[in-house]
Amino acid sequence: MIDLDIKTEEDAARFMDLLLLADPSPAMVLDYLAEGTLYSARWDDVVVGVFVLVPLDDAKWELKNIAVAEEWQGKGVGRALLSAAIEEARKVGGKRLDVGTGNSSLDQLAFYQKAGFRMQRIATNYFTLNYKEPIFENGIQCRDMVVLSLEL
Ligand SMILES: CC(C)(COP(=O)(O)OP(=O)(O)OC[C@H]1O[C@@H](n2cnc3c(N)ncnc32)[C@H](O)[C@@H]1OP(=O)(O)O)[C@@H](O)C(=O)NCCC(=O)NCCS
Repeated sequence: MIDLDIKTEEDAARFMDLLLLADPSPAMVLDYLAEGTLYSARWDDVVVGVFVLVPLDDAKWELKNIAVAEEWQGKGVGRALLSAAIEEARKVGGKRLDVGTGNSSLDQLAFYQKAGFRMQRIATNYFTLNYKEPIFENGIQCRDMVVLSLEL
């Protein structure tokens, strides 16, 4: 696991394909990269996954993006990355880790809850207000953000 501080668009471009798997808006990705830290997992120098942690306040952190390269998905890399993100948030003094996902992101809702995250609130219309293009998954329009939290 390597900790990288990615602040420039040039640096971010190296990880953008992966980051866009979790978030279709490059503008939104660049916004939170400026505030947070990108961590990458590598196998033989190939980046297989990333996550981004952003501080909300002294005690609260947000997992803004977690993505595993398509050919590596379903092999436990995501679970390992999520554990690493939780561990890292604890290490920097976080007491709670939040993550937001779409109402249509059924697999991701399972993924986070299996790791112990609990549903906290719904940000109604978050995706319709913040994303230009409509997003569909599992035949459902992604309109609302489900915020899940884990006490650390
Ligand atoms: C979500 C994601 C990070 C999961 O990573 P992964 O390496 O594929 O997941 P893992 O193999 O570690 O699986 C972890 C758990 O999630 C479950 N899971 C993962 N993908 C799943 C899927 N498509 N359907 C159902 N369950 C799934 C697994 O069953 C596993 O559960 P288990 O611990 O009981 O075995 C990965 O699929 C991904 O990058 N998706 C695209 C980007 C994205 O959607 N990011 C999240 C944005 S909110």
